[in-house]
Amino acid sequence: MLVIIKNNYEEMSNEAAKIVADRLRKKPDLVLGLATGSTPLGLYKELIRMYKEEGLDFSKVTTFNLDEYVGLPPTHNQSYHYFMYENFFNHININPRYIHIPHGMAKDVDTFCDWYEKRIIECGGIDLQILGIGANGHIAFNEPGSSLGSRVRIKTLTEKTRNDNARFFASMDEVPKYAITMGIGTVMDSKEIILIANGEKKANAIKDAVEGPITGMCPATIVQMHRKVYVLLDKEAASKLKGDYVDSWEAKVFS
Ligand code: GLP
Repeated sequence: MLVIIKNNYEEMSNEAAKIVADRLRKKPDLVLGLATGSTPLGLYKELIRMYKEEGLDFSKVTTFNLDEYVGLPPTHNQSYHYFMYENFFNHININPRYIHIPHGMAKDVDTFCDWYEKRIIECGGIDLQILGIGANGHIAFNEPGSSLGSRVRIKTLTEKTRNDNARFFASMDEVPKYAITMGIGTVMDSKEIILIANGEKKANAIKDAVEGPITGMCPATIVQMHRKVYVLLDKEAASKLKGDYVDSWEAKVFS
């Protein structure tokens, strides 16, 4: 694990973009795992800038998103499909055929989940997975109590997560109750992971994830078992950490 602490959100986002761009330049057909939520917006913005100004090429990239709400069509403005196209895919030269996002309207959810899991393997596995973290330590939609070996499946969202996400919907009743999500085991199979978190609201979850005991009650703690994970933070999210950490991904001193 390499914990990197930057001064602010913008620096954190740009540092994450530098790692993604480095991997993409080395492997143009990179398989990239992507996350939604407010945290990766700065990273996507910087990658779009790199595409437009520096010619960073996404034409051979394959993507797999972590999760999607069950019951929301891709056209719904709170679906993760909509989010990804609006905030990233519409602005880069990605081939739409190489984009994978769980299908929230799948008729047979279990069959779809098995297909998604197999499709990741067929594409060679995820080279680099971007991860956010929920205030309760969830990753993707693996809520506290998730099996640490779980695979792609349907999950019930906790009241905490539904409340956290309610701000995006007209009323609490409209907030979906279920999601399709990569499992913790699926995420851990990625060759590299960048976990990004900013703001004081994430400080407790980050303290547990980086320095706490590994437990399914805080799914993000599993990243301690991964052989190549960058935990990229701003000062607020890192404010409860006790250890000594670095300020650049180039430090290359994995613990
Ligand atoms: C949702 C997503 C997660 C994301 C989390 C945090 O629950 N399923 O993948 O990490 O929100 O979101 P935010 O970045 O907005 O804090």
